[in-house]
Amino acid sequence: MTAVALIVGGGVSVEIVPHVLRIVEASGAHIEWQRVDTPQLADPSAEDPLDAAIAAIRECGIGLKTRLYGPPRDTGQTHHQAQTGLSGRGNPNVILRQRLGLYAGVRPIRALPGIQTRYPDLDLILIRENTEDIYKGIEHEIVDGVVESLKVVTRDACRRITRFAFDAVVTLGRRHVTFIHKANIMKMSDGLFLRTAREIASERPEVGFREMIVDAACMQLVLDPFQFDVILAGNLYGDILSNLGSGLTGGISGAYSVNIGNECRVYESIHGDAPHLEGTGLANPLPVLTPAVALLRHLGEDKSANAIEASVTAILQREGPRTPDLGGSSSTEEMADAIVEGLP
Ligand code: IPM
Ligand code: MG
Repeated sequence: MTAVALIVGGGVSVEIVPHVLRIVEASGAHIEWQRVDTPQLADPSAEDPLDAAIAAIRECGIGLKTRLYGPPRDTGQTHHQAQTGLSGRGNPNVILRQRLGLYAGVRPIRALPGIQTRYPDLDLILIRENTEDIYKGIEHEIVDGVVESLKVVTRDACRRITRFAFDAVVTLGRRHVTFIHKANIMKMSDGLFLRTAREIASERPEVGFREMIVDAACMQLVLDPFQFDVILAGNLYGDILSNLGSGLTGGISGAYSVNIGNECRVYESIHGDAPHLEGTGLANPLPVLTPAVALLRHLGEDKSANAIEASVTAILQREGPRTPDLGGSSSTEEMADAIVEGLP
């Protein structure tokens, strides 16, 4: 049995997780979940509830997490404000990455077989610097009506993530890296990242390297995504481009992220909060199941991972029970039942 931290936030994830757990269990995987629920992250009277989640991940060295939420919706905020963290507290998902030193966000851009998408054969990897940039969240108001937000870029973090990307090209049998920036405008911050990336590229001639300005990259990704292979980007561009990539490959079902640091790794569901689905029982289980399958693979539980993948593929390809977002009319439970029944 391998101990894996399971960090469950709020929203529809709470409803999806039990189905994902029973699918994983039925697949015969040898996982002992150490579950930490963090529904009350904004309760100022509670001890920092992220501490328990972080301790569990540190202890296990590996975790699976759903989207964590900011303040509850009864604090007078609009739903959008609550979810986008306009409360003055940091975003718990980002704080977790930063506190655990999970510096590399690895996000495959690949459709699940059978998902309706513009690019069924696309297979890219986006690598996102996870610890700094504008995500440091350092903002202040100078005078009323004038706010500054600091973009923090350090040579060490740029080196670390660029080396990670170049190593990934080699270990994953990829061909080249496209580095994304806006150094024509942010000459110092993006300029430092670009210069650092060029330096490392010159030390690694076996890996192809090219640079692309972020706006051009968005257009090129839509026009001809096959020209890319591994994409390396800073925190904000990586966030945006990864969603663009999910859009090219059929949306949330196949999208996940693995956040990697020196001591631990966390498989993460990156779907939105889908408040309209809460309590309906109609949420798609795949956004949490897909990272769980990737986690199984990392742990060497290939038999279980293959079984779940084959069962999901059969359902998607043969128009088996699917939730409404996938064009079906089944509930989360019915779709999960079908996945379990399809296991060998
Ligand atoms: C993601 C999400 C997060 C991010 C949010 C929830 C803070 O959009 O994982 O892509 O911006 O990184
Ligand atoms: Mg995002």
